[in-house]
Amino acid sequence: MHPDCERILFTQEQIAARVRAAAAWLDRRFAGRRPVAVCNLKGSVVFFCDLLRAMQTDAEMDFMAVSSYGNATAAVCRPKIKKHLFSSVEGRDVLLVEDIVDTGHTLLTLRAFLRERGAKSITVVTLLDKPARREVPAEADYACFSVEDAFVVGYGLDYAERYRNLPYIGVLKREACFASGKDEAPAGQAGADGFGS
Ligand code: PRP
Repeated sequence: MHPDCERILFTQEQIAARVRAAAAWLDRRFAGRRPVAVCNLKGSVVFFCDLLRAMQTDAEMDFMAVSSYGNATAAVCRPKIKKHLFSSVEGRDVLLVEDIVDTGHTLLTLRAFLRERGAKSITVVTLLDKPARREVPAEADYACFSVEDAFVVGYGLDYAERYRNLPYIGVLKREACFASGKDEAPAGQAGADGFGS
């Protein structure tokens, strides 16, 4: 285990089993259809690659990047779209892949974006769901794991751009946040400064 983690929340084997179950659920949902799978960079990329390879569905791949803006004291949180899709989703079934639904602002923004661009349907799958921190009504259609309100890293999730390549999901030690050069512990999954990474 990485020395900055206080414990492993989900092992590689547990993650792989949940990814296979999610892939099977999506294969049933998209039977006979060819969806566009959209990865919300960067945190989702590891899950996205494993999930898409576990699916039998003939899915196209596309990518977006939305960063969480705002902080604990901000009245309104406005995630910003930093990278748009490569292709049109008009009239298409979309599979949106997230690494975590935390406050829900990012998911709300992405759903609105895809609807505005004419997606025929939007199915959201997330690796992690953290319902205790929800600020807006934004739910995934499928969540691999529901997690407690702890700062988690690994399998794509970062703190200050670190730990994304850990093969498991771990809980970050509080002192590791201070040691990273930030001067306070993270208020939530979006990062100590509220700007993600
Ligand atoms: C993280 C994560 C989700 C989002 C969830 O992204 O990847 O997309 O926050 O937070 P919310 O539910 O509170 O809106 P982040 O902005 O940290 O960027 P990253 O994926 O590049 O790490």
